[in-house]
Amino acid sequence: MKVVRDIAIMQKGAEQIRREGKRIAFVPTMGYLHDGHRALLREGRKKGDLLILSIFVNPIQFGPSEDLERYPRDWDRDCAIAREEGIDLLFAPEASSMYPAHFQTTVHVEQVTQGLCGASRPGHFDGVSTVVAKLFNIVKPHVALFGEKDYQQLATLRRMVEDLNFDTEIVGVPTVRESDGLAMSSRNVYLSSDERKVATVLHRSLEEGLKQYRSGQREVPKLLHAIQKGICEEPKIQIDYLEIRDAESLEPISMIERKAVAAVAARIGKTRLIDNILIF
Ligand code: PAJ
Repeated sequence: MKVVRDIAIMQKGAEQIRREGKRIAFVPTMGYLHDGHRALLREGRKKGDLLILSIFVNPIQFGPSEDLERYPRDWDRDCAIAREEGIDLLFAPEASSMYPAHFQTTVHVEQVTQGLCGASRPGHFDGVSTVVAKLFNIVKPHVALFGEKDYQQLATLRRMVEDLNFDTEIVGVPTVRESDGLAMSSRNVYLSSDERKVATVLHRSLEEGLKQYRSGQREVPKLLHAIQKGICEEPKIQIDYLEIRDAESLEPISMIERKAVAAVAARIGKTRLIDNILIF
């Protein structure tokens, strides 16, 4: 596995790979890899001839009071996982070369970033779309894989790629969960064992919403009520948002007539977790 830190070297390498007629599959991450990332890599392996993983804790997608400094990092473990997954190339740029002092351009996606995580994390999605646009220009992927776990992020990046005519196919990968249903996340390490148990209520409650939809309930307020009731049984959880929106446009809806997504963000102690379920 080749490790590249230099942007120009990565760009030249990507050009060379493209000239050889090979298809580049790309999985961007912030590292501290888990089985969710592995699922993206395995899907990427199927979609391309050459698999590139990036690890970059992107400073501009963290708010001033967020966890940039304490975001979990483990370079050696990540390299071992990358090797196990048969990555061809690992791109890990320095923040100072991604954002030199004169850096001043931002990609802003307008509507799908409104509400949900966009409301509680101002500027977050600008940071995500900007770094992903940069990574696409550096890695030049034919196909890039993102998790449905970060549903609004996936919708934002799909919009960006279509609006700005990036020649990259975006593939969404279903959320990978622990055996008790908790969505895998690098941030789960912040949870104490008590909090870890409490956190499982999120998926259980979302599933209850899906169950009610499947028994015929189509009214969004009623479905939300059922989900919220489940979550509120755990006093240690504070809901940041809980919404059901159109799964494609992410527009708010009051009745479910097409595929929808129920999305939740909640705080347990100092940790903020997100999860969602597709309703169809
Ligand atoms: P990160 O949180 O490291 O996630 C990298 C990718 O893994 C994202 O596409 C995310 O949706 C996916 N992922 C995380 N947990 C998952 C799970 N349990 N199941 C399936 N996929 C999962 O998301 C980011 O990094 C950053 O915002 C990034 C896109 C790299 C831009 O900086």
